[in-house]
Amino acid sequence: MTREWKQVHLLDHPLIQHKLSYIRDENTGVKEFRELVEELAMLMAYDATRDLPLEEVIVKTPISEAVSHVISGKKLGVIAILRAGLGMVPGVLRLIPAAKVGHIGLYRDPDTLKPVQYYCKLPADSAERDLIVVDPMLATGGSVALALDLIKQKSPRSIKVMCLIAAPEGLDVVVSKHPDVEIYCAAIDEKLNSHGYIVPGLGDAGDRLYGTK
Ligand code: PRP
Ligand code: URA
Repeated sequence: MTREWKQVHLLDHPLIQHKLSYIRDENTGVKEFRELVEELAMLMAYDATRDLPLEEVIVKTPISEAVSHVISGKKLGVIAILRAGLGMVPGVLRLIPAAKVGHIGLYRDPDTLKPVQYYCKLPADSAERDLIVVDPMLATGGSVALALDLIKQKSPRSIKVMCLIAAPEGLDVVVSKHPDVEIYCAAIDEKLNSHGYIVPGLGDAGDRLYGTK
């Protein structure tokens, strides 16, 4: 893989890479898969939020006063692409419990591989928020690109995408359509197969999360 995208961040922390190996494994069952997706989302959110601005506060400790820092009144939102993105939401909320949560329902037509929209409910005050879109898989990139089109209608302050595994073909699509969006992923795999699945990937993320296959 020789392509480079300046807005794509590959998160190579050892804990992320370790947990990713387990979710790729075909022998990992639903319970463990779900727990790992949540943990991975939490670890990735830690990195994806490292540019949040801070402001100084004075805290009275039992000993004296400390000059300390808190996040500067930022309003965040997490937008899950259904179904599989739902599995990442609890991990992000563990770190940002006050974030509002939006949902975009999309499924890929198995013949055309194009996303079909069936639901969209975003925070009403999205224009005042920094939004993080979550979906474990970025394959052809069609789902994330459409989700970003829908989200941009609300004019949020900023948008980031967090996915576990991306395909180079899909990154090309999302980066060319939405060059203003930062993308965080734990792995960039080799390619897509003829059915639009990421190789080697982890299979169908929704089915593995919810045991539907
Ligand atoms: C999966 C995945 C992404 C999409 C990625 O969802 O969770 O949303 O495919 O594919 P793309 O990049 O080619 O658009 P799927 O359509 O299988 O729906 P599901 O989550 O409801 O199972
Ligand atoms: N959706 C998935 O869940 N997995 C893939 O590999 C591609 C799309």
